[in-house]
Amino acid sequence: MKPILTAALSTVFLVTTASSVLADPAAGKAAFEAKGCGDCHYTAGPAKEKTIDDQLAKKGPELWYAGSKFQKDWLGKWLADPKPIRPMKFNVLTEENPGDHPKLAGADAASVADFLMSLTSTDVPAGKVKPKKNPKGRQIFIKKMPCSGCHQYAGRKNKISGGRSGPSLVDAGVRLNPDWILAYLKNPKVFKPVKMMPVFTGLLSDKDMMNVARYVANFKPKKKK
Ligand code: HEC
Ligand code: HEC
Repeated sequence: MKPILTAALSTVFLVTTASSVLADPAAGKAAFEAKGCGDCHYTAGPAKEKTIDDQLAKKGPELWYAGSKFQKDWLGKWLADPKPIRPMKFNVLTEENPGDHPKLAGADAASVADFLMSLTSTDVPAGKVKPKKNPKGRQIFIKKMPCSGCHQYAGRKNKISGGRSGPSLVDAGVRLNPDWILAYLKNPKVFKPVKMMPVFTGLLSDKDMMNVARYVANFKPKKKK
C-alpha cells in the first residue's frame, strides 16, 4: 500500500476507535433507567429543593451532581465492581452496610459513568483545590475538629483508623474531585441529604477549609516501595 493511503486509513481507524470509547451519556442514561437505578437515586437537584422526606424516600445518595463529585476512572470501576463506601447502611446508622449494591456489566458501567459524569453542579468552582500533604489539614482532621471520629482514613503504616458513621475517606483522593470536597464543606446544604454530617461553616475559616480539603484530597494508596 502507498504510504499516503496507509496514513489516511490509519487516521480513519484512529477516529473511529476514539469515538467508540468516547462518552456516550445517552446510552448511559437509557441503561440507568432500564436498570432501575433511579428507584434509589435522584438525578435532579439541588438537595435544598427537597424535603427530608423526599430525601429519605430514596435508598441511595443523590447523584444529580455526580460529575462534580467523582473521579471518572473510579466511577466506571466502582459501578462494575461496587465495594462498600459507607461502613454503615446509608442513612441508617444502626445497621452495617449490607454491601449488596447492584453491579453493572463492563459496557454498561462505562456508559452509565459517562452519563453520571455529565451531571454537574454550578456550585463547584473548578481548579481551586490542589491535593497536597498538609500538616494543618491533618491537625484539623485528627485533632482540632471531630472529622476522624466519623470518617475512616489510612493513618501511619496504612493502619485504618477513625469512626464508622460517615463514608470511609480511605483513598478519598482516588474517588472524589478535590474541588467538590471544598464546595461540600463550604456550602453543604446544596448537596447534602439529611443532616448527619455537621456544618463547619463558621467553625472553620475559609483557609482551614482549604487546608482540610487539600489534606483529604491527598488520601491515596501509598506507593509500594
Ligand atoms: C436498592 C437501592 C439501590 C439501587 C437500585 C441502586 N443503588 Fe446506587 N447506591 C445505593 C446505596 C445504598 C448506596 C451507598 C453505598 C455505599 O455507601 O457503599 C449507593 C451508592 C451509589 C453510588 C455512589 C454514590 C455516593 O455518593 O457515594 C453510585 C455512583 C451509584 N450508587 C450508582 C448506581 C447505579 C448506576 C445504579 C443502577 C445500576 C444504582 N446505583 C442502583 C442504593 C441503590
Ligand atoms: C458526626 C459525624 C461527622 C463528622 C464529625 C464529620 N463528618 Fe463528614 N460526613 C458524615 C456523614 C454522615 C457524611 C455523609 C453525608 C451526610 O450525611 O450528609 C459525611 C460526608 C463527608 C464527605 C463526603 C464523603 C462522600 O463520599 O460523600 C466528606 C469529604 C467529609 N464528610 C469530610 C469531613 C471533614 C473534613 C470533617 C471535619 C472537618 C467531617 N467530615 C466531619 C459525618 C461526619
